Amino acid sequence: MITLSNVHKSFNGNIVLNGVNLTISEGEMLALIGRSGIGKSVLLKHIVGLIKPDAGDILIDGININRLRGKELEAIRKRFGFLFQEGALFDSLTVYDNVAFPLREKTSLSEEMIREKVFCELENMGLEKDAHKYPAELSGGMRKRAALARAMVMQPSIMLFDEPTTGLDPIIGQSILNYIQACHKRGGFTGIIVTHDVPRVFSIVQRIAMLHDGNIILIGTYEHIIQEKNPIFEQFLSGNLNGPLTYS
Ligand SMILES: Nc1ncnc2c1ncn2[C@@H]1O[C@H](COP(=O)(O)OP(=O)(O)OP(=O)(O)O)[C@@H](O)[C@H]1O
Ligand SMILES: [Mg+2]
Repeated sequence: MITLSNVHKSFNGNIVLNGVNLTISEGEMLALIGRSGIGKSVLLKHIVGLIKPDAGDILIDGININRLRGKELEAIRKRFGFLFQEGALFDSLTVYDNVAFPLREKTSLSEEMIREKVFCELENMGLEKDAHKYPAELSGGMRKRAALARAMVMQPSIMLFDEPTTGLDPIIGQSILNYIQACHKRGGFTGIIVTHDVPRVFSIVQRIAMLHDGNIILIGTYEHIIQEKNPIFEQFLSGNLNGPLTYS
């Protein structure tokens, strides 16, 4: 369903993706991990066509999205839900209007139907009492949940989550992961979760991929990748300062 083939991307000589190959099958949920600044968000943005690769192809259901422009790109983007790392709510709109926004823009549903869908998502996120509030009146975690509700309300067939639990307390973080898992089971979208929330995320995905130095260095089920005893993965999981990963 999603295929990255030999994707290269540099910014001003800084090589971020150096020939990434990755295939995600329909209905699969994959966790993408790797240290900060390694290129996880950049990789997700390639999949939605927000960043163009220097070389290589990104195929969505066999369609090369690099070649799409205007209306065609818009049509394929409708199938995506994207939870941006930065949240990206509209500050001038209430929570309710933020979640209703894509439905009003991209569907011809009546306001009554929209209301039903919006409140269903807000209830799932525990935000039904906050529908009238503006983003500035919310905590960071509430903003993340509102953004998640807005992404989910369109019932996308591909869902990309960029750090859905970062900045949330452990209980809310777990409830978000449970919610994502429940949606995945119910709706069967194909999903990628970028997260540092390890090992917790491993229980809700089928496979884990680790991005390091421009490539996917490890991919497979949790059982498979722990057997490999990769020192980079082991250090990442343990948070040990001594190992192949260095920080400058
Ligand atoms: N639009 C851009 N222009 C220039 N450089 C960029 C751009 N976007 C990302 N980068 C650079 O690409 C690298 C990878 O960034 P990215 O945001 O993908 O990291 P990340 O793995 O998501 O990190 P984190 O876990 O901290 O979110 C960084 O060095 C960043 O500075
Ligand atoms: Mg990121």
